Amino acid sequence: MQPTARAYLFGMVPLVDPFARAISYLRVSVTDRCDFRCTYCMSENMTFLPKADLLSLEELDRLCSSFIRLGVEKLRITGGEPLVRKGILTFFEAMSRHLGTGALKELTLTTNGSQLAKFAEPLAALGVRRINVSLDTLDPAKFARITRWGRLGQVLDGIAAAQAAGLRVKINTVALKGFNEDELFGLIDWCAAEGHDLTFIEVMPMGDDIGNALRLDQYWPLKDLRARIAERHVLTELAERTGGPARYVRLEETGQKIGFITPLTHNFCESCNRVRLTCTGELYMCLGQEDMADLRAPLRASPDDGLLEAAIRAAIARKPKGHDFDYSRQHVAGRMTRHMSHTGG
Ligand code: GTP
Ligand code: 5AD
Ligand code: SF4
Repeated sequence: MQPTARAYLFGMVPLVDPFARAISYLRVSVTDRCDFRCTYCMSENMTFLPKADLLSLEELDRLCSSFIRLGVEKLRITGGEPLVRKGILTFFEAMSRHLGTGALKELTLTTNGSQLAKFAEPLAALGVRRINVSLDTLDPAKFARITRWGRLGQVLDGIAAAQAAGLRVKINTVALKGFNEDELFGLIDWCAAEGHDLTFIEVMPMGDDIGNALRLDQYWPLKDLRARIAERHVLTELAERTGGPARYVRLEETGQKIGFITPLTHNFCESCNRVRLTCTGELYMCLGQEDMADLRAPLRASPDDGLLEAAIRAAIARKPKGHDFDYSRQHVAGRMTRHMSHTGG
């Protein structure tokens, strides 16, 4: 059943934004901290939020449950790195009750993979079926360079643990000119051999100014990447959607599925179905705009959810049409000073 139809069934006016887009996907960043420092995501010396500013796991539960009551069907837990938040399994356990009632169709996460050896099995037991793991290179030295702090072996062990626990794995690779161009087929072949899906992402201008100037140098348009794949493979467009922004093709020779997330070359904002909640209760209605709504104040103002739901509706009523990211005039336009780790992508 469509989220809008389900909401009506329960006597709710569903969450629909001013452009008639139903909001059915909530991304929740449970921490701004991470055990890596990927160069396109964080600066080397990040100042993190004081722990006292964070919403408790009980408060996050109340917030997410309100969104689910209002029609959200897909919940993606992000960060920073979500698995470094203390007590995170308690939160997954709480959210899994909504899978039990059928209100939530998917509970999932995006992770750097570093903690999966420990968490894969309990996550699978709590109803997580597939996970997205960020991985930009299979070369240990390059991995150490791009993540600043990460170790490739630990992530590969984590991915293996996820597979062993029965989780489907999608690899997210940010396409970076001069960094992983030479690994295009290496990554594709590795994913085929391991049975992982693979999605490429265009690098977005988020973070500090120095970083954003670099982003332009690193920008590898996915239409070029795709053309290179087509030199070796027959690509068939798939109609399939996961509720995220990726568009998929199948490589006929291997049968594998490859996704493209193209905020720069092909804007997908017209079908946007998502909003982002941070670990302090800020709701960002768009990844590429500064506007946000504070949900912490209405959450804490009353134990009843009335104020909170009104604040959520008021926020959705201001959801903008889309982002303004643009590199086309050889400078970075529409950039965000916010780091990607703040909203979890
Ligand atoms: P699936 O459920 O597998 O489709 O995942 P997803 O693509 O929704 O989530 P994931 O966390 O894997 O996101 C991959 C990348 O897509 C991240 O870099 C996000 O920043 C980017 N992304 C996701 N949603 C949006 C969006 O609304 N706008 C833009 N510009 N980028 C987005
Ligand atoms: N542009 C594109 N993707 C990014 N990510 C982090 N920063 C950027 C950026 N500037 C990706 C990570 C992860 C996802 C949540 O966001 O690689 O896969
Ligand atoms: Fe939606 Fe904003 Fe993302 Fe566009 S940039 S797809 S409007 S969240």
